[in-house]
Amino acid sequence: MALLEIRNIVRRFGDFTAVDGVSMDIEAGEFFTLLGPSGCGKTTLLRMIAGFDSPQSGEMLLDGKDLASIAPEKRPIHTVFQSYALFPHMTVAENIAFPLRMRKLGKGEIGERVRQSLEDVRLTDRGGRYPGELSGGQRQRVALARALVNRPRLLLLDEPLAALDMKLREQMQLELINLQKEVGITFIYVTHDQTEALALSHRIAVMNGGKVEQLDEPSKIYDSPKNRFVADFIGTCNLIDAEVSVAGEEKMVLQIRGLGEVAARNPGATGGAKGILALRPEKVRIAAQLAPEDDENHFKGRVHDFLYMGDVTVYIVEVGDGVHVEALLPNSAAGRPRILAVGDPVEIAWRYDAGTFLDG
Ligand SMILES: Nc1ncnc2c1ncn2[C@@H]1O[C@H](COP(=O)(O)OP(=O)(O)OP(=O)(O)O)[C@@H](O)[C@H]1O
Ligand SMILES: [Mg+2]
Repeated sequence: MALLEIRNIVRRFGDFTAVDGVSMDIEAGEFFTLLGPSGCGKTTLLRMIAGFDSPQSGEMLLDGKDLASIAPEKRPIHTVFQSYALFPHMTVAENIAFPLRMRKLGKGEIGERVRQSLEDVRLTDRGGRYPGELSGGQRQRVALARALVNRPRLLLLDEPLAALDMKLREQMQLELINLQKEVGITFIYVTHDQTEALALSHRIAVMNGGKVEQLDEPSKIYDSPKNRFVADFIGTCNLIDAEVSVAGEEKMVLQIRGLGEVAARNPGATGGAKGILALRPEKVRIAAQLAPEDDENHFKGRVHDFLYMGDVTVYIVEVGDGVHVEALLPNSAAGRPRILAVGDPVEIAWRYDAGTFLDG
């Protein structure tokens, strides 16, 4: 049995449906992420799990028990917000002790649990400080410690790193992964940042307009997006209009304006279907000249534009009739090729199974 079963949850505000029939199972010990653009219903779903809000229909079971029958403060669930929500007039240790004092635990036990929590988040020497004396990252660690001190079954985190700068965010991401592993508590994490979701999660639910578009492991979400929305939202992706001319069992031939025939992986489409070819730029080889390999699509084109990004360069290649294909080239010291200039003739190639056909 899953730790949390979410069944067909619907939440409407007036005639607007914020969460539109969401179902998912979250396993014990999982780092589970709700990922999607602003307004897709992530926070609304999280608030219903916490009990701050209720669905119009559907049910949620925690350890098989209907959550609707459990008051929010009785649920073994804790939420961490982007804004930390620490008490400014209490020290770090007092902040962490607060939920334990509410439960009227003994002084000795409170002291021991606070010490352990400070250790969990590597703030052992900061117990006597006030939140105002801490950095953003440290404040968020205090909020985490306070959330974990009661050892909830489920920790909900709503964009907890959004206020931090990029460097600190990356460091905190690593800490979150380690912390979750150490404490073994199930995390439901909300973010609209796809790289964060890919880096942190065991599984991701990609949401859009109140619905789940795809629920999978990060590598599946990235490599085998189910539809145009997921392909476009996660990473960068070439999305090229295509029509199926020959549908084989595993391989297919697409007809693409300006390119002609392109071989691709067949996810189960039939001949004549119209849709798009989804192709990640890092799977496209590019050079002034390329020896084609087996099972590769191979085209000649011209550099239309490029973006130097430090670690990589993204080339936009015009191939035939105004069709643009993005290709990504790492700027590694060893294999760094001559930088291609705008207007240069180039060749691009990609294995047939690097591209996926998506219906619609
Ligand atoms: N109390 C409310 N009354 C009316 N509409 C609401 C209410 N709460 C949320 N909404 C609407 O429901 C939709 C989903 O909101 P929600 O806060 O869940 O989005 P989100 O995915 O968390 O977005 P963000 O990434 O910006 O935090 C939004 O369009 C929002 O305006
Ligand atoms: Mg939100």
